[in-house]
Amino acid sequence: MVDTTRLVKEIQEKYNIIGRTEELKQIVLAHAVGKNILLEGNVGVGKTTLAKAIAEYYGSNDSNFYRVDCSEELLPHNLVGYFDPPLVIAKGYVEDSYKYGPLALAMINGGCLFINEINRMPESTQNSLLTSLDEAILEIPKLKTIRAHKSFFVVATQNPAAHVGVTVLGEALVDRFIWINLNYQSPEEEILIIKQESNLNSGNADKIAKISQNIIQITRESTSIRRGSSIRGAIDLATLVNQYDNSDSSKNWVEASVMALYNKIELEEGSLTQTKKEIITNIVLAVLNKSDFQ
Ligand SMILES: Nc1ncnc2c1ncn2[C@@H]1O[C@H](COP(=O)(O)OP(=O)(O)OP(=O)(O)O)[C@@H](O)[C@H]1O
Ligand SMILES: [Mg+2]
Repeated sequence: MVDTTRLVKEIQEKYNIIGRTEELKQIVLAHAVGKNILLEGNVGVGKTTLAKAIAEYYGSNDSNFYRVDCSEELLPHNLVGYFDPPLVIAKGYVEDSYKYGPLALAMINGGCLFINEINRMPESTQNSLLTSLDEAILEIPKLKTIRAHKSFFVVATQNPAAHVGVTVLGEALVDRFIWINLNYQSPEEEILIIKQESNLNSGNADKIAKISQNIIQITRESTSIRRGSSIRGAIDLATLVNQYDNSDSSKNWVEASVMALYNKIELEEGSLTQTKKEIITNIVLAVLNKSDFQ
């Protein structure tokens, strides 16, 4: 049995992770039984932060940590490795001519392979992961068969399939992961994240963080907005407001909110009578008028 409570606390402290206790517990348990982990959640919910912490935590214990950021251009050889043509001409198909990719290295050396935004990986590349994930074997034609080190494991992140511009991850690949879903954190935890990530240190830190959190929360609840802001919007907003001489001025809050949130929210399609700027302005003014923030 693993001491999950202790491990979770250690990860939170080492990587400045606020909350996520339940999810970290699930991750620690999945890892303890040798499972690969897929973190799914909306834009900015904290997937990369959490996955990176896990990968580094277990990677550093086992002394290795490999990261791949996916795009449509990520081909199998970027993941597995390839024979370098000039070296093949000089030496033939031998070990020295082969450039190992992150998957092969993680399997040989052990530790964690962190695959960020795996849903952006082309299908051909996804296929090259399959045998590594369930049989811990990687075939390199003309060279060798790699059998994974016992500490090899994969942590991946993905945006939900409903999200625009996201391809659906192959069924075969999804099947090989333990799935952990991330939702928005509680307002209390978000306020702590905003304070930590925006380096708020003035006497107004509490108030700035609370107002910023409230503003983004309302963007998620507004019926005019299809996609509200993630915590990133609040971090940007608080960081900006903190730079003004007067963080009590509603004009400054509106200006900073438009800058921070304009490209982070998407309006509902259809006959909207208000512009995005007006919608943001109204939300900010409504929040500033709340008695808690007077
Ligand atoms: N639990 C948390 N503790 C501390 N900081 C956090 C936490 N969750 C999110 N953050 C902060 O919020 C920001 C966004 O997080 P992150 O980049 O991990 O989100 P993401 O889900 O990977 O986003 P995307 O979908 O755009 O890739 C980062 O600055 C990160 O530091
Ligand atoms: Mg990310």
